[in-house]
Amino acid sequence: MHLEAQILEMHAITNDVYSMTLQCPGVADSAQPGQFVHVAVAQPGSTDPLLRRPLSICDADRSKGTVELVFRIVGRGTRLLAGRQASERIDLMGPIGTGFRRPRPGRVPLVVAGGIGIAPLHFLCRALLSVGVSPYVIAGFSTRSDMILVDRLVRYGAKVQVITEDGSFGLAGKVTEYIERAAQEINSHSHGEVELYACGPLGMINSVREWCLETGVFGQVSLESRMACGTGACLGCVLRVITASGEERYERVCVDGPVFDVRRIVTC
Ligand SMILES: Cc1cc2nc3c(=O)[nH]c(=O)nc-3n(C[C@H](O)[C@H](O)[C@H](O)COP(=O)(O)OP(=O)(O)OC[C@H]3O[C@@H](n4cnc5c(N)ncnc54)[C@H](O)[C@@H]3O)c2cc1C
Ligand code: FES
Repeated sequence: MHLEAQILEMHAITNDVYSMTLQCPGVADSAQPGQFVHVAVAQPGSTDPLLRRPLSICDADRSKGTVELVFRIVGRGTRLLAGRQASERIDLMGPIGTGFRRPRPGRVPLVVAGGIGIAPLHFLCRALLSVGVSPYVIAGFSTRSDMILVDRLVRYGAKVQVITEDGSFGLAGKVTEYIERAAQEINSHSHGEVELYACGPLGMINSVREWCLETGVFGQVSLESRMACGTGACLGCVLRVITASGEERYERVCVDGPVFDVRRIVTC
């Protein structure tokens, strides 16, 4: 769906991460955790840059008709977006893509977030908590000042363990070093089987995938890819996957994903 939304609020969360809240009932009404919007980042009246930028839905409130995006400045498009002001209008398409499937009854969601990858997982955790499912979140950041959205998740009632690479907050190391420990803790406390949800940098996703394949734990990961159309037409975002019958084929991250069952990923 192609829409125009009004920016209600825009603020910096850290040095380079921004939160943008949009009045956009057309997206808020049907948004599912793991879906994204494709945002035109050019200044009003300009078409440069031409390509939209995909951003995950970090939160959506159906009753207010609002959607929140949380993004890190990495290049020209996100820098332009960070310069937009409340009350301006913005052009977007969405919600797009196949989001996360809810865990099966009795399973405990273990949510593994790496850096800005926590954005779609925030929406997932909110949705799970609203139906009485408590996720166990392990969230990794480079350092304490990069930490985002953790306070909010704790406030909503999620159990969150922070891991920083430099040890400046929480446990020290990489988030993937703590997956096994978190799974064991879940098993010993709730006796429930774990289902894993993850979003983060490629190296983290590869480690998560290996852990899931070794342990047999069911996992869903949200993947990133450079995107052009965002509608499934250009094939610019394809990824090799394995089908139920064992054959390999290409699927589009924008519409067949961005969330994939880890067992289906061949290369990422
Ligand atoms: C489905 C999806 C959801 C996303 N959700 C979020 C989100 O919630 N918050 C957020 O901050 N970012 C998110 N991203 C990443 C975001 O789309 C890119 O950071 C953004 O498009 C960069 O645009 P730019 O013009 O600022 O950078 P560019 O100038 O286009 O690129 C700057 C640098 O970033 C790298 N890069 C750009 N886009 C991507 C990409 N898609 N994957 C990997 N590397 C890339 C480039 O290779 C380059 O090194 C998401 C991406 C996808 C595919
Ligand atoms: S971005 Fe065009 S097919 Fe996915």
